[in-house]
Amino acid sequence: MKLPDSARFSTICIHAGQEPDPSTGAIITPIFQTSTYVQEELGRHKGYEYARTQNPTRFALEQNLAAIEGGRAAYAFASGMAAINAITTLLQSGDHVVVTDNTYGGTFRLFDKVLRKYGLEFSYVDTSRPELIEQAIRPQTKMLFVETPTNPVLRLTDLARVAEISRSRDIRLVVDNTFASPCLQRPIEFGADLVMHSTTKYLNGHSDSVGGIVIAARQEDADWLKFIQNAAGAILSPFDSWLVLRGTKTLAVRMAQHNLNGQALAEYLEKHPRVKRVIYPGLPSHPQHELAKRQMKGFGGMLSFELNSFEEARQVCNRVRLMALAESLGGVETLMTHPASMTHASVPAEQRAAIGLSDSLVRISAGIEDVQDLIDDLAQALGEG
Ligand SMILES: Cc1ncc(COP(=O)(O)O)c(C=O)c1O
Repeated sequence: MKLPDSARFSTICIHAGQEPDPSTGAIITPIFQTSTYVQEELGRHKGYEYARTQNPTRFALEQNLAAIEGGRAAYAFASGMAAINAITTLLQSGDHVVVTDNTYGGTFRLFDKVLRKYGLEFSYVDTSRPELIEQAIRPQTKMLFVETPTNPVLRLTDLARVAEISRSRDIRLVVDNTFASPCLQRPIEFGADLVMHSTTKYLNGHSDSVGGIVIAARQEDADWLKFIQNAAGAILSPFDSWLVLRGTKTLAVRMAQHNLNGQALAEYLEKHPRVKRVIYPGLPSHPQHELAKRQMKGFGGMLSFELNSFEEARQVCNRVRLMALAESLGGVETLMTHPASMTHASVPAEQRAAIGLSDSLVRISAGIEDVQDLIDDLAQALGEG
């Protein structure tokens, strides 16, 4: 099976990195659940020695995701956080990193509570304003770590503009692309050096696996990531690799439905008299709607809305029946969260206020159910009765 060079996105998702199993012809890459490989004689083997270092199921996923993001190589890790941690091993003590201020809380925790102990320094800035990035850059700045859109206020960073800034100063640009998925946004095309995902979210898409991936554009970064994956050992298991590989086959069709449902829910909520404000990149009311149209191929399934009080937000979260009150995102089922008391509870209240995350904000990860059922659920949860 030869994937033509002209293959388009959904074809790449289904076929890249996967060949029928040579021993049986199985069309699906098997789960190679083994810790070691038998060698034919001393110094002669099939390229596989030990499963932390080499695993065919993981290799298939890595090749698949390298092609999907348009990178040189990809490396799979035990979680999104393990992937971010691996990226930071490209840095040395004394280096400085500029980070999106509204970054995922776990990323902030890793940087602030762990990596600062090893002499790395971090500045948190609103990366939707490139002039603030330029002001934060120091001679020691070696990395720009950007998340776009952000969680939960869906602020966007102009990838082409930040790539220009980082390239002109020889700073690595890293993009956490978890929220958009490569179906909607491919940061390497804009000039990013490294892209990472929590595969736990849209790439796996079925809420049944935790994992992470790093895709590298430069050979030197790919070489280091391959080394650190084996040296530190936070690899993705064969079964999880297989699950994510199954997930990416339907990425394009799932994202098409996430886009439709996200847009329909956002439009429904924007018209609802009890809703104060809706944040969704696909709405003309989003302050960066034009940028979203330029750099994203769809607006995704993530939206947030604000009610008039914490009490109203609490009621809606407690009343939904079809939507599940749960952390995480990107699965086929619709989830609702109250960021101030759930995912962002560890972020100080004044910092939450600074990014526009109030106690009355509710976030939805729109799944791919029939959207009318989702609207009916929201209607009853927002109703008086
Ligand atoms: C944007 C983003 N990046 C990274 C992570 C971390 O991923 P994981 O939970 O797989 O470690 C998450 C998890 O919620 C996330 O939302």
